[in-house]
Amino acid sequence: MSIPYATIQKINTSFNKDFVKNPVGVFVGGTSGIGEHTAYEFAKLTVNPTIYIVGRSEESGARVQDKIKKLNSNATVHFLKHDLKYIEQAERVANIIRNKEDKVNVLSLSQGSLLNQPRTETSEGLDEKFALLYYGRWTIVKMLVPLLQKAADQGGPARVLSVLSAGNERSVDFDDLELKKNYTFLHSNLTAASYNSLAVLRFARKYPNISFCHTFPGFVRTQVFREFPLWQRFFVAGVAYLFAKSPEVCAEHQIYVALTGPEFATGGHLLGENLQSTQTDKPPYSEFALEENQDKLWEHTEAMINRANENDIIES
Ligand SMILES: NC(=O)c1ccc[n+]([C@@H]2O[C@H](COP(=O)([O-])OP(=O)(O)OC[C@H]3O[C@@H](n4cnc5c(N)ncnc54)[C@H](OP(=O)(O)O)[C@@H]3O)[C@@H](O)[C@H]2O)c1
Repeated sequence: MSIPYATIQKINTSFNKDFVKNPVGVFVGGTSGIGEHTAYEFAKLTVNPTIYIVGRSEESGARVQDKIKKLNSNATVHFLKHDLKYIEQAERVANIIRNKEDKVNVLSLSQGSLLNQPRTETSEGLDEKFALLYYGRWTIVKMLVPLLQKAADQGGPARVLSVLSAGNERSVDFDDLELKKNYTFLHSNLTAASYNSLAVLRFARKYPNISFCHTFPGFVRTQVFREFPLWQRFFVAGVAYLFAKSPEVCAEHQIYVALTGPEFATGGHLLGENLQSTQTDKPPYSEFALEENQDKLWEHTEAMINRANENDIIES
């Protein structure tokens, strides 16, 4: 069932800011679009927050830092400049936060854009799109789980939000987990959705005190088409933007999932555009989401991260 926008606004505006003391929020992909605006909502709804913004653009990082300080003069804001198509960089982000903080209340992951390119391996041997949309996100979550656990132990919110494409999954081809045989634009994007959903469900099984959510934001007016050639941006984005929602409205939905919505305080949730659950007893969910699939993908992911780490050693 969808959650009405009016309900989301009401719960957000009545959120008790004193519920959590000195909260820590991490916004990976927070230099633009959905992550940026979700960070603003977090700044507005909290007291003395520490906020991490992660992305590549220093200019955008500085702009977001300034805006957060205007929204909440007591906020401490850090910008971490990293290219997250590399696992080594994702690990570095997690290590910086682990060294500086003893808890994380909200971890929002929205790095990536619509990449329309053939399978492209990075120097670590991972496909660029999957490193950004899945393996890097998984790495940061896995490494920050102890800090999320600490937040949960203190009775505060402890929530992970991955913004991508819940509800648009397809059955996983376990003979081609790296998509070396079949890599179309559609198949790669739907498979990235499946991987995020399987990971969210597996993390939630393993860490029942923490909330793990994968959302589909709907169509949102952001920079998501930035990697498309100009003519495609003109046509696709131009037409689609007419029907898109604003990043501000989208962010109100995302912060409901990541902070204020009581029904998402723990557990694993796959949520559509209006925060309706996409978990059903029918295919494709009933087929792709099986626990054995979650476990097989988890093993594959660990192996891929290890391989990326080994390739980093060879590279350096
Ligand atoms: N907007 C939509 O309609 C829509 C619909 C469905 C799904 N999504 C998904 O939602 C997520 C967020 O999209 P958005 O609309 O907020 O897009 P956006 O405005 O383009 O923001 C993407 C963010 O990802 C960061 N990023 C991209 N590549 C990176 C890299 N290699 N290393 C580090 N950071 C990187 C960007 O930061 P820098 O540029 O500073 O690196 C930026 O902060 C994406 O995964 C997108 O595919 C969006």
